[in-house]
Amino acid sequence: MKRPFVRRALAGMAITLLVLAGCARTGSDAGAATASAPITPALIPAPATLQAGEGSFVINADTRVSATGAAATRVAGQFAAYLTSAGGPALAITDADAKNVIRFVLETGDAAAASPEAYTLDITPDGVTVKARDERGLFYGAVTLWQLATQGDKGGVTLPALHIEDAPRFAWRGFMLDPARHFQTVDEVKKIIDAMALHKLNTLHWHLTDDQGWRIEIKQYPKLTEIGGCRIPAGDGGKDPKTGEPRPYCGFYTQDQIRDVVKYAAERHITVVPEINVPGHATAAIAAYPELGSIDTPLVPSSEWGVFPNLVNVEEPTITFLENVLGEVVQLFPGTYVHIGGDEAVKDQWEASAREQARMRQVGAKTEMDLQGYLVERLEKYLAGHGKRLIGWDEILEAKLPPEATVMSWRGIEGGLKAARQGHDVVMSPSNKTYLDYLQTASPNEPPGRPALITLQDVYAFEPVPPELEESQRHHILGLQANLWTEHTRTFARLQHNAFPRLAAVAETGWTPAAKKDFADFTRRLPTQLKRYDAIGLGYAKTPFEAMIATEDDRKAGTVKVTLSNPLGYPVHYTTDGSEPTSTSKAFASPLDLKLPVTVRAAAFAEGRAWRPPPRSS
Ligand code: ACM
Repeated sequence: MKRPFVRRALAGMAITLLVLAGCARTGSDAGAATASAPITPALIPAPATLQAGEGSFVINADTRVSATGAAATRVAGQFAAYLTSAGGPALAITDADAKNVIRFVLETGDAAAASPEAYTLDITPDGVTVKARDERGLFYGAVTLWQLATQGDKGGVTLPALHIEDAPRFAWRGFMLDPARHFQTVDEVKKIIDAMALHKLNTLHWHLTDDQGWRIEIKQYPKLTEIGGCRIPAGDGGKDPKTGEPRPYCGFYTQDQIRDVVKYAAERHITVVPEINVPGHATAAIAAYPELGSIDTPLVPSSEWGVFPNLVNVEEPTITFLENVLGEVVQLFPGTYVHIGGDEAVKDQWEASAREQARMRQVGAKTEMDLQGYLVERLEKYLAGHGKRLIGWDEILEAKLPPEATVMSWRGIEGGLKAARQGHDVVMSPSNKTYLDYLQTASPNEPPGRPALITLQDVYAFEPVPPELEESQRHHILGLQANLWTEHTRTFARLQHNAFPRLAAVAETGWTPAAKKDFADFTRRLPTQLKRYDAIGLGYAKTPFEAMIATEDDRKAGTVKVTLSNPLGYPVHYTTDGSEPTSTSKAFASPLDLKLPVTVRAAAFAEGRAWRPPPRSS
């Protein structure tokens, strides 16, 4: 595809083209809200229903948060803490029903038919009430209220009168983190969990094992992390620059740390789904315990990326080993699902192994894929015996699959469609729509990523329920998930860049009724969401907010044609006198025919303020 801003094209030209990033406030902004100028709520994800009321409620120093009972009091405390963490006022919590109050009410009775994640929110000039039948719904009501209370510049606290009745479209609203390639600390994982909760996402898929690293402590098999938890990075990164000694890249989570993360997530109504990937993506495990492998050659955890042929064998001692691992895993993760991987298991080693060929005959597997199916079936049985459900990547459909197994469709949506038609539950996670390791813009300022574009628009446009899926099977689509593989994502700053704001689009698809989704309206609400990210210290990509420049010069005529754009369609303003553009500078409407030499400075304005300092023109 054409790169709209080509640095090379500028070399040697007698023009200077500077591209600034910027956003400014629209007329509907929150900070200046009054009763006569009501706020247009900038909620992400958009609620199922919202009716505007008359007037507004102002949170001031005397406002109290009231709750009765342990669960409502917990949610009230979380709301108050999120408000102060975003720079808002510190509100006292009371169980008295005073005036000027924000009430959190857990109603167990009449709303029993509603989703446990549903809530209602009423704001009137006299007070605010959040109601739900379950603590989860009450929490999401608190998140909506927090978003309304953080629409202004400094945690602005004028809330528009309104009535919201809200519930999610999908039960599985997921995000996958990959600490196997590049590791995230416990604090970083918690930061992601908080960000997920503030987007009403509810499932964290934790990809804990892969060729490059085994990241979960298993008490019975300490070498999984002692040996499998370290790799020697390829190239210079693998050597100490002073001594030339190997410099391993290591990391794993202790079981105590995992319990801590799982508890932290549960407090925010996020279920953590662990992944132990077999039979492929298992090099680190085989390096630690060679008897698990299918070849005699010793292995080390991989230092490169890609698909490796190293598969665990499917003999009884290996199945016992895996059951023992899962036995510890199911103790650590109280959620329903355990992910067993199953992707990209190329079968060369099994084809060449006399022992695996004998094992195939023994278990009645006609093909190597059937042997993988046998392994999946055994693990499914083990997990079911411990009250758990198995989920795996869509390759598991290529063999006989227990009906209770759930399929995560990643090679497009076809696997998910087929699985749903067979009666399996499905999570849609297609690599061409929801993989956040792909670049999100064509800007030269993108950090490293997989070199195809998955833009914010692409992510937003993804529809998890294929239109061709029969109505009777649609309930099998549990929801959607975005995956952030970290081969190219070495730092937490880059991880946040790749995740946000695209995860906001995933959140809206997961929560908001399909008929209410509207990308133009999403981009209207997005700058307010970015202010919240700034307020809580969450990193995000600025590249979608840059102005892009494409040029065509005619040296003979001494002219240049300049086209300005913004990837999200925000208006671009520019100057040609070297001055910094503002939201009142000329707006780009059609290609500019300019005489060389010329300096064009341009910025995209969504809400009138720059999101990062503009580069200097000299
Ligand atoms: C995958 O991306 N290999 C699931």
